[in-house]
Amino acid sequence: LPKDLFSPRKNSAGVESGDRKALASLISERGRAAVTGLAARCEAEAAKKGAEPVEIVSPVDGTVLGTSHHLSAEAATALVGEAARHVTAAEAVPAARRAEMLRKAAGLFESHEAELLAILAAEGGKTLDDAIAEVREAVDFLRFYADEAMRLFGEPVNLPGPTGEENRLTYRSRGVAVAISPWNFPLAIFTGQVAAALAAGNVVIGKPAEQTPLIAARAVELLHRAGFAKEHLYLAPGDGETGAALTSHDLTALVAFTGSTETAFAINRALAARNAPIAPLIAETGGINALIADATALPEQVADDVVMSAFRSAGQRCSALRLLFLQEDVGDRILEMIVGAAKELTVGDPRELATDIGPVIDGEQLAMLQEHVRRMEAEQTIRYRGKVPEGLSGKGHYFAPHVVELDRPEALDREVFGPILHVVRWKTKDFGKILDAIEATGYGLTLGVHSRINETANKVIARLTVGNLYVNRNIIGAIVGSQPFGGSGLSGTGPKAGGPNYLARFAREQVISVNT
Ligand code: NAD
Ligand code: ALA
Repeated sequence: LPKDLFSPRKNSAGVESGDRKALASLISERGRAAVTGLAARCEAEAAKKGAEPVEIVSPVDGTVLGTSHHLSAEAATALVGEAARHVTAAEAVPAARRAEMLRKAAGLFESHEAELLAILAAEGGKTLDDAIAEVREAVDFLRFYADEAMRLFGEPVNLPGPTGEENRLTYRSRGVAVAISPWNFPLAIFTGQVAAALAAGNVVIGKPAEQTPLIAARAVELLHRAGFAKEHLYLAPGDGETGAALTSHDLTALVAFTGSTETAFAINRALAARNAPIAPLIAETGGINALIADATALPEQVADDVVMSAFRSAGQRCSALRLLFLQEDVGDRILEMIVGAAKELTVGDPRELATDIGPVIDGEQLAMLQEHVRRMEAEQTIRYRGKVPEGLSGKGHYFAPHVVELDRPEALDREVFGPILHVVRWKTKDFGKILDAIEATGYGLTLGVHSRINETANKVIARLTVGNLYVNRNIIGAIVGSQPFGGSGLSGTGPKAGGPNYLARFAREQVISVNT
């Protein structure tokens, strides 16, 4: 791992990134101006392109932060054509220079931390703690992929061969890489995908989610400032139509996508329908993530880890806990602790230091969560119904934690992306049935086991094919380089972000055999 991956960092104002109080005051001091300035630049860009302006509405209080635009299908198609003209030049930039630019970008992200935090709060509704963690993750991706670029692209790998022959394995760029990201980690995932594709020497088109174009625009500005040429890194603000145009282009050589499983399927179909070479799809998607706690687990620890996993970030993490399996003997006690802890969580403006749970991203998400609760009310048992504080209702999109007890795991039949925890009790004899139920979801992203019996955890590890399995801890917040992240089955195509095998997927391998 790079030496400075986890070290505390100071931003340009000399504030250590862990100092929440100092950061909060910096954000209120400079944040608004930073957001306004950035929004004005995005607006000017839209006007330059003659594109229809699209309002960016803050989930915090409904304020219009500014306008962006959606690249039309026609413009997106032209952009891939333009990007393809620069593939050879991008690959010619030495790996050491690419790594240097990524490291410089990491430094710029750190020195602009307060501004990035302010944008993440205003546009993405991130609490201060979540925003700090997100900036750190983005910085970690930049440094990690810089090191990985040196490892993979620095020197060819010499392979054995008969006397008189040299065999060398090299990694080359793929060409035009399209990176499509979701709104829930609008900086970290956007930056991670783009940085990996750049590290591998590709020409990169980054398409952020339509809800969060501002933070992506700032990330691209900083990457350009770090030295990446405008012809090697493009921003493509837009919606699904923009994404569809980018992914159906014959010259798109690779797609890195993070988002819903349905969209991953659509992209897969679009790539397959082209009359062009087969382009790989790196997809990281959703999950119905479970945690199993047995009677030997420490109740306080289970309750803490469950509350963190289900409700942190308003449950808007792909890794978040959706389905908790509690062994019958300890079910009442642990459930009581979870509900007690959930009652203590403060739902509110994410820019306030006391806030634990900020808004959900938009009205559509809010309506989906409300509808799910209505369905659960009719069919299952609501154990805890959190309330949004009076003053907040009607301004932004807030939804308080809920706990629902299910009579069977199958009652949760899709990923519900928000702070709703579903609980199922299990009897000792039914342990195998729980594993069947988890497997039957078809997803395989995160999973937790809480038990003091090693064999229990080992049985789960052996049986279930999830990407990230956590034992006796919470199931969120994977760390770059330590916990490479990504799932299998309906949760993704496998290569794990922040891991040693990720960058190779953005490259093609070439073997050179020379008769000496
Ligand atoms: P989404 O699939 O609706 O959108 C993701 C991105 O795809 C956006 O940029 C969107 O504009 C684009 N898009 C939509 N339709 C497209 C199409 N036909 N072709 C190309 N691009 C298209 O997902 P979302 O609502 O933004 O994000 C939430 C989802 O992301 C959840 O399911 C969550 O679990 C998942 N997620 C997964 C991970 C992971 O690492 N596994 C991380 C974060 C989020
Ligand atoms: N990588 C993020 C987490 O682990 C999604 O929570």
